[in-house]
This record gives sequence, C-alpha cells and structure tokens, in this order.
Amino acid sequence: MARRPITGQTRLAAVIGDPVRHSLSPAIHNAGFEALDLDWAYVALPVSAGGGADALAAMATFGLEGLSVTMPLKDEIAAAVDVASDAVTALGACNCVVRDGDRLVGHNTDGDGFVQALTEESGESVDGKSVAVVGAGGAARAIIDALGRTGAASIVVVNRTLDRAERAAALASVATVAAADQAVEAIAACDVVVNATSVGMGWVPGGSGGAADLPIPLEGLRSGQIVADIVYQPLETPLLAEARARKLVTVGGVGMLVHQAAIAFEHWTGQPAPLDAMRAAVADLIS
Ligand code: ATR
Repeated sequence: MARRPITGQTRLAAVIGDPVRHSLSPAIHNAGFEALDLDWAYVALPVSAGGGADALAAMATFGLEGLSVTMPLKDEIAAAVDVASDAVTALGACNCVVRDGDRLVGHNTDGDGFVQALTEESGESVDGKSVAVVGAGGAARAIIDALGRTGAASIVVVNRTLDRAERAAALASVATVAAADQAVEAIAACDVVVNATSVGMGWVPGGSGGAADLPIPLEGLRSGQIVADIVYQPLETPLLAEARARKLVTVGGVGMLVHQAAIAFEHWTGQPAPLDAMRAAVADLIS
C-alpha cells in the first residue's frame, strides 16, 4: 500500500525525550496508522530534561493528538498533566499523553503492556500467579504496579540495591522484597520470573556468556516456570536462551514494546491497534 500523503488534515503524534532519534516508536506507530489507513503521522521530537512542561504547552498549542514520553521526561510530565491515571499517580511516571478536549491526560502503558504481552505469549493469565520481578527501576516499577492491579497472588522484588527494591515493592500490597542471600530461593519458588533490569541488553552471540550477562543466578530457574525479559535487543537474551534450553516458556521484550505502544495507539485513535503490523515493523528493525 502506498504511504498516505501528509496533508492539512493529517493528525500528528510524537515521542518526546532525549535521546529519541533512534526510538522505534515512529516505525511502530506509523506502521499502525498505515495498516488502518488512518490520516495520522508520528515523529520524534528531542526534548531535554526540564523541557517537559513547555512540551505539554506546545502539544496543546499545536493540537498534537498524542505524545509518547521517554527518558528523562516521564517524571516531569507526570507532574504536569491535567489528569493523571491511577498508574501515573502511583508511579510518578507518565509515558503517554492523550489530548481530551482542553485537558491533557497522562497514562502509563508500560506495566499493562508487559502484562498483555505476557498473557498473549505465554497463554497464561497472571491472575493467582507468584511472580519474581528482578529490578526496581522505572520499568520494574510499572510492571509491579500492573501485576498488583491485575491479580498476581504474590510478587517478590529482587534488586541489587535493596532500598530501591523496597520502594518498588511498596507499589503493590502483595509485593515483598528478597534479600540478596535469599534471592535464588525466592525466584525458584515463583511461577513467573521477570527480568526488568537492563542486564543482557546489547549482548551479542559469542559474547562473554558469563554471569555478568545474566540478571539472576541460573539456580533460580526450575521446570514449569515462565521466564520473561523486558530486554528486546538482542531478541533472545542470555537469560531467555538459558530458559529455553531448560524447556521453560519464554517471553521476549518485543511484546512489551509493542503492547505498550498499542495501548497508547488505542488511547489516541480510539481504534483497536493493528498488533501484527506494529510487530512486523519492529521485526524489520531488530534481529
Ligand atoms: P529503567 O527505567 O529502564 O528501568 P533504571 O531506572 O536505570 O532503568 O533501572 C535499571 C534497573 O536495572 C535497576 O533495577 C538496576 O539496579 P539498581 O537499582 O541496583 O541500580 C538494574 N541494573 C542495571 N545494571 C545492573 C547490573 N549490572 N546488575 C544488576 N542490576 C542492574
């Protein structure tokens, strides 16, 4: 299908943050608009720290329909939107802004995007599951919040820095923290293991293959578990390769990337997101 021409009618959405020039979001969203033949376009706008409130004012002035927000702006946008979703209020971080008449509404689609990807790719609901979340940064916090709201029975947070783990665990009433010397046992006791750290990112086949590429000791893996990784570059991280070798169900990071975008797409356009087209756009860019 030929790409729609951009006209005076074209509606605009954008990702803001710094850096954004290598963001995959323009490819994902433009593929979605094209698949549904929507007269929309999506661009990347570099905005540095401290520029969030001005960017929101510009969104209103220009009539941009939607914004994706990435680092380092998620916190300042969360504080500056007119209306914040429950997730934005809990996390203090916003990755998606929707224009609703005169009001700018902030959402955080990362956690729900993760849960949707996990459910779709593993074929299992998180409802009633015990989940180990490794990491306590922005991504981990969004995942813990969403797991708590979608019915996980228990969440154990494992992180290199204990006080960050404690703050992250406070996001869900079913969440606790495992100290370093109990991490392996705590992870092994869970139905689902999630790497929400950046460990494994940028790993190349033939790389060290050592413990530095793995977010958890392998003794934490046991049969029957689902192992998910938020890292999507490489598509198969050392953790996922180890899990697959043990015949465990694995869920890679592309699903979260696509689903968090799909939820934003649906907020902006009001239409069900064309997930296959969005996923294909990512597959063209990552190997
Ligand atoms: P994001 O917002 O993408 O989640 P972040 O806030 O920088 O990024 O968080 C990164 C997470 O990966 C943190 O949990 C971090 O652990 P600390 O809280 O102890 O810093 C974790 N992480 C990063 N590099 C790590 C490493 N080499 N080993 C273990 N954990 C690591």
